[in-house]
Order: sequence, then C-alpha cells, then structure tokens
Amino acid sequence: MFIKNLEKYKNKETTLNGWIYNLRSSGKIMFLQLRDGTGFCQCILNKKDVSEEKWSQAQKITLESSVELTGTITEHPKNKNEFELQVKDFKIYQIAAEYPIGKKDHGPEFLLDNRHLWLRSKKQWAIQQVRDEIISATYDFFHENNFIKIDSPILTPNACEGTTTLFDLKYFDLGKAYLSQSGQLYLEAAIMAHSRVFDFGPTFRAEKSKTRRHLTEFWMMDAEMAFCDHECNMQMQENLILYIIKQVLKNKKPELEILERDISKLEKIKAPFGRITHNEVVKKLQKSGSKITAKDDLGAEDETLLTKDSDVPIFVEKWPKEIKAFYMKRDPENSDVVLGSDLIATEGHGEIIGGSQREDDYEVLKARIIKEKLPLKEFEWYLDLRKFGSVPHSGFGYGLERLTGWITGIHHIRETIPFPRMINRLKP
Ligand code: 4AD
Ligand code: MG
Repeated sequence: MFIKNLEKYKNKETTLNGWIYNLRSSGKIMFLQLRDGTGFCQCILNKKDVSEEKWSQAQKITLESSVELTGTITEHPKNKNEFELQVKDFKIYQIAAEYPIGKKDHGPEFLLDNRHLWLRSKKQWAIQQVRDEIISATYDFFHENNFIKIDSPILTPNACEGTTTLFDLKYFDLGKAYLSQSGQLYLEAAIMAHSRVFDFGPTFRAEKSKTRRHLTEFWMMDAEMAFCDHECNMQMQENLILYIIKQVLKNKKPELEILERDISKLEKIKAPFGRITHNEVVKKLQKSGSKITAKDDLGAEDETLLTKDSDVPIFVEKWPKEIKAFYMKRDPENSDVVLGSDLIATEGHGEIIGGSQREDDYEVLKARIIKEKLPLKEFEWYLDLRKFGSVPHSGFGYGLERLTGWITGIHHIRETIPFPRMINRLKP
C-alpha cells in the first residue's frame, strides 16, 4: 500500500510504512506526517483509540523514526482529494536519533555534507521524482520514434569533447584510459547497424569551473540518427523537449507545486523554438553592451540575455568552426561555420543540449583530426565509419541535470543529482 494510491482506500482500513517527517502533539492527539517514498500523508493518532501502553510508546516517536501505521483512510474535511490516516495501531521499526536537518536555514555546505539525509527533504524528494519522469519520458519518446538504446563505454582511449577536461587513469599495460565525456562517437558506429540509437549514462569532465551549471560527473543522454541532417536534428530535439515537458506536466504537477515552480512558464513552451545563428547572437549581444566577439562562446550572462524575452528555448546554430568540436560538419554555404546547434533554455538556465551534423567525409575528417593534434591512431576506428557506407548523420546530447534544473526551476544543478561531484566535493 502506497500513499500515492490512497484515494482507492477511502473509508477502508490499510497499513502504511514510512518515516515521520514532521510531528506535533496536542496532549490527546498526535499529528504524524508520514513519508513513504510515493508521497506524504497526515496520520492522526487519538489517545482514546489506543491502550495506555501504546500511547506512551507513541510519545517516544521522533523526527525520521521509521514506523508502520494501520488505520482508516478518510478524506480531509476541507481539502478534497487529500487523504488522512486515522491510526488504530502502529509498529515502530526504529526511533531515530536527533535528526540534524531541521526547519532552520542550513547553509549549502552543511546540506551537501549531509546529502545522504538531505535527499529526504520534501523539495529534494520532488526534484528526484521529476528527474525520474524526465528519464522515463526520454526512453518512451525514443522507443516510440524507432530508436534503440545502445550502451556506450565509460572507459575510453580518446577524447570526445576536447582534451582539457579529460579525467585519466592508469590502465594496466595499455597506458592511459580516459573517462567518457560523451558516448557520441560510439553511437556513430551503432547507427550503421541500427539507424537510430541513444545512450544514457554518467559522463565526466574535469571542469575547473565552479559555476551553478557545472558538475564533474553528470548524466548525459546522447542520440544519433543516420540519414538526418542539421535541420532534422534540431526538429528531433524540439520534439523530444516538448514531449518531456508534456509528460512532466501530466504526471508530476504535485511535485512541481512542492518546488514552487511557475507552471505557467512550462505550459507556454510550444513549437516552434527560436532559431538564431551564432553570428546574429554576437551582433545582438554587442548591441546590448556585451563584450562578446565573433569567435567567442556564449557566457552564462549572454545566454540569459539571449532568452530573456522568449517563452521558448532558442537554438543557437552555425557556430564558428574554431570553437566547436572536430567532428562537426562544415556548412556547405559558409565553410567558416559548422552545422551545429546549442539549445538554450529559458529563464536563465543556459545550454541544455549540444548537437550537430557530423562530418561524413573520410578525408575532411582525417584532416581535422590531424589539425587538432588528436592521436590519429586512436581515431582509426572512427574514421572507418566514413569508409564503409558513410551516410549523412546527426545527433545531440542533453545534460540531465541541466534539463532537470530548468524544468524544476532549481538554481544550482548540484541539487538535481542524488550525489553531486564537483571540483571541491567528492563526498558523501
Ligand atoms: O555540449 P556538449 O559538450 O556536447 C557533447 O558532448 C556532444 N558529444 C553531445 C552529442 O552530440 N551527442 O554536452 C552536452 C550537454 C550540454 O549541453 C550540457 O547540457 C551538458 O551536456 N553538460 C554538462 N552538464 C553538467 N556539467 C557539465 N560539466 C556539463 N558539460 C556539458
Ligand atoms: Mg555544448
């Protein structure tokens, strides 16, 4: 029996198992707020309903004690669709020691040190519930669109996204191995067998930046499609994001309310998303006083400024080749730019997706690998893909924590992953 399904048990007797996340007593009545993982329920224990002995046992219950409560489910006298448990009997699993997280404002470092406990707080609970919905919506969307999941490796011999953020480790007699920055290159191999694939797993970047958007370990979903160009790629991203938002609104409204998320902002997200070239962005930002130059990446402030007046995310496309990855295909109409896009979320949440059409010509790609001084030998297998049935293909990757941060309206993405890893944090 779970709190999520209480409605079905109206006026019936049932048993709930969980933890006491709040309690108060008025001498003859105890109000126990129970959390069972699926939701929260007020449970009322009346002195007159239990024996003296049970009542005195109940007085020992502390915050976060684990209990089993049995009684009748009643509808809240004022709030329809809110249910309470009129307790008739209970069992105590464990009386919790004095719980360190209280109602008072704790600093972020204290909460992060106690992340193993902080996860139980109502907002933190709601964030993980939404994160899970995003994951399952992603799987559903891809399976409905003829993608299969392909698991890419985490230990790799080469970089995917630039060599400056690689984590390395000693790998037996084979020298160095690196932790994956993105499964993309492996998905490019898999599309030649399955046409449309996605992966979903932890990725690693030795980011020196201490911003609210950077983790050293984060979860990325990469998708890759054969016979799909830059336009088709952006369309798929738009469809995916709209689908995820639709599912979260459908299934996780109570959680968004706990998070005090302005739901109207999510409801306004409709097709089509904005489109602007990097060149146009630079001009626009310069006009509003930014010091950005033609070959610069967008800073966090630039991204915020760009989407300030937009209800929908914006694709920034056709980036200068110098600041994007070696595998991106050049625009046939202007070889100075690549057919890549970043999807910038609304409300200052910044880049949530990076994607591009991939270079599919053997010689051009080889020349780029050499020019970027990447170890050609480690990329031979990747070049092979351009030798045996090369096709136009594209793909993209989203950062799960950035996406969750945006949808839940959480400022710092460290709260969107169960156990955040950052430059200065490796525990708990
Ligand atoms: O833009 P990125 O670097 O793109 C890639 O890795 C491509 N290989 C993906 C692909 O085409 N298959 O990273 C993709 C996304 C970013 O848009 C961002 O949401 C997230 O990953 N991301 C991070 N999230 C948290 N912390 C970090 N340090 C992140 N770096 C990237
Ligand atoms: Mg990017």
